[in-house]
This record gives sequence, C-alpha cells and structure tokens, in this order.
Amino acid sequence: MKLNIAVLAGDGIGPEIVAQALRVTQAVAKKFGHELHSTEALVGAVAIDATGNPYPEATHEICMKSDAVLFGAIGHPRFDNDPSAKVRPEQGLLAMRKKLGLYANIRPLITFPSLLDKSPLKTDRIEGADFVVIRELTGGMYFGEPQGRSEDGNTSYDTCIYTRMEVERILKLSFEFAMKRNKRLTVVDKANVLATSRLWRQIAKEMEPQYPEVAVEYMFVDNAAMQLIQWPKRFDVMVTENMFGDILTDEASVIAGSMGMLPSASIGIHTSVFEPIHGSYPQAAGKNIANPCATILSVAMLFEYAYSLGKEAALIRKAVEASLVAGAVTEDLTDDKSKALSTSAVGDWIVDYVNRVER
Ligand code: IPM
Ligand code: MG
Repeated sequence: MKLNIAVLAGDGIGPEIVAQALRVTQAVAKKFGHELHSTEALVGAVAIDATGNPYPEATHEICMKSDAVLFGAIGHPRFDNDPSAKVRPEQGLLAMRKKLGLYANIRPLITFPSLLDKSPLKTDRIEGADFVVIRELTGGMYFGEPQGRSEDGNTSYDTCIYTRMEVERILKLSFEFAMKRNKRLTVVDKANVLATSRLWRQIAKEMEPQYPEVAVEYMFVDNAAMQLIQWPKRFDVMVTENMFGDILTDEASVIAGSMGMLPSASIGIHTSVFEPIHGSYPQAAGKNIANPCATILSVAMLFEYAYSLGKEAALIRKAVEASLVAGAVTEDLTDDKSKALSTSAVGDWIVDYVNRVER
C-alpha cells in the first residue's frame, strides 16, 4: 500500500519525537511492504516565524492531500508569557482542527504492566485500567463567539456553544465505540449548571434507545475527575465536550505513569491527525531527552484508523511494550537518571525491535 503522510513536527520537542516516530513508521512500512511517502509542513511558532501564520494555507493543502497527518506539538514560552500576542501557536492547532473538521479526539488510556510503579496511584487501583476518552474537538468554549475583552480592558468573556448537529455526531461516534468495546458509555457534563450540558444530556437520552445494548451513565465533570483517579477501572468509553476532555485527559495520563505515553487520534470530516496528548515541553527542546513513545503509539493509531492496518499497529504496540520491559526508556520513566536513554536511543531500540522481530 502507498502511505501518503503529512508530517507537522511543530515546536519544542515536536521535531525530536516526530523524527523517531517517522523512523518507526518507515521500519514498519518496509517490513510489511508499504511504500511511505511523507511531506513535511510548518505549524505553530515555527510557522509564525516563517510565514506569520501558525497554520499556513500551504500546510493545510498538504494535509488535505494526505491520507493522514502525523503531528508533534505546538507552543512556545515566548507566547505563553505574552498575553498581548495577537498571533499564537495554539491558534494553528485550533485552525487545523477546525479546517480539517476534526470533531472527535480519541484518547485511549491503558496501563503498561512495567510502568505500574511509575504512577503515583496505588497499583491495585490502576492495574488493568483500559478506557477511552472521546473529546469533542471543534466546539464549545475553544471556538465559541464572542470571545474577547471589553473596551476598558476590565471584563473578558468566552462563549460555550454547542449545536444539536455537533452533539449528535460525537455521541453517535461514542455509542458506536462503546458497541465495539465493553458497551458502557459515560457521558460527562455539568448539566446541573450549564445549558450546553443540558443539551448534551437531552440528546444522549434521546439516542439511548438506538443502542439498547449500551449501558449509559451520566456523570458531572467534577465527580468524573474524582472517580477517574479513584476507580479508573470502572470506565469503558467516556465522552465529553472540548474543555472538559482537555482537562480530564491530562488527569488520566497520571494513571499511565507518564504523559509521554498517551497517543491520540483526531478524526472527522477530512484527513485525520495523530498526535501525542502532551505539549511541546520547551524545557526539554533540543536536549534529546523527551519520551517519543506517545508519538510512536500515535503512529500505531494512524495505521489502524487511517489504513485499517491492524497488524502494523499491533507490532508497534508490541515494540513499545518490549522497550518498557527492557528498561529502554527516557528519563521520565526512570528513577535513576543515569540509566535513562535519550529520545533517539529509544527510537533506535524500537526500530531495531521492529526490524528483527517476526511479523
Ligand atoms: C491538547 C492541548 C491543546 C488543547 C492546546 C495546546 C491548545 O492541550 O491537545 O490537549 O487545549 O486542546
Ligand atoms: Mg491538553
């Protein structure tokens, strides 16, 4: 098969982790007889510096023409510390999500047996946790208008908006996900306070009869934040609006032991995007110390979602798992920093595994 992938490495550690993920993609492609064609494009602060636009039109065109997008990270402290900056790297990510119609962000959470002791949570609570958070990605407060500040500068506002169409399509996808998994769906909202949440809850209840096999529960987001940490094993599929999903998935990463382990897929109307859930980690940029596993596991999702190539995906997961068992890990996963491997050395290990193991 011909694999035509757009590569948007972005800022901070983005280029380092994406480089390793691409090497793994290449190794897997070679092993299974696929022909990989990748095209690099600018996004984030690097795109602002080069073009003034964090998601240039040329980048969008490349994404639209590709089968899938492999995305690193965006963000730069230069902008974080300047609230008056008119153009921000994050706008590039949001513009990409909107223009590609990526309304569903799928963030699976599993625990790796060899990392159980890396989580601050008790092993018996997290061992075997396996759920997926489906985060709505192109609506809510991230995109609602008006957003801004009053003329005197003393009042500011964001708007949370959801339409029936937006809620229905993400819930449909979530019900279908639940059907393919353990048939349990948790709808996370704040229906006791927010009008948008009440619309979500109403629509979910209307849809329930279409999926009689799915056990649906409704949970307020504050309660969900607590239960996620206390009883992570009780969840199967969780669906929630944009902002709640952003927060809950960072929280959930604690269960896996490191933010550096969580992949994601963003799917919707046009080309799908595969990216780690973590950010650009500017403190580590250029140091070759960041964990590439979340991005490598995002490539596994890419093979699965963009091409339905399950064996390729399984091999990548097996390789990552083997690297963890072998202790071939970056410093976020070692107690003794002197034993940590660099980003590229972890990449070497995983590529080597892919090359030598049976398909
Ligand atoms: C994420 C990130 C982004 C978000 C930021 C970088 C805009 O935190 O993908 O979770 O909030 O969606
Ligand atoms: Mg986030």
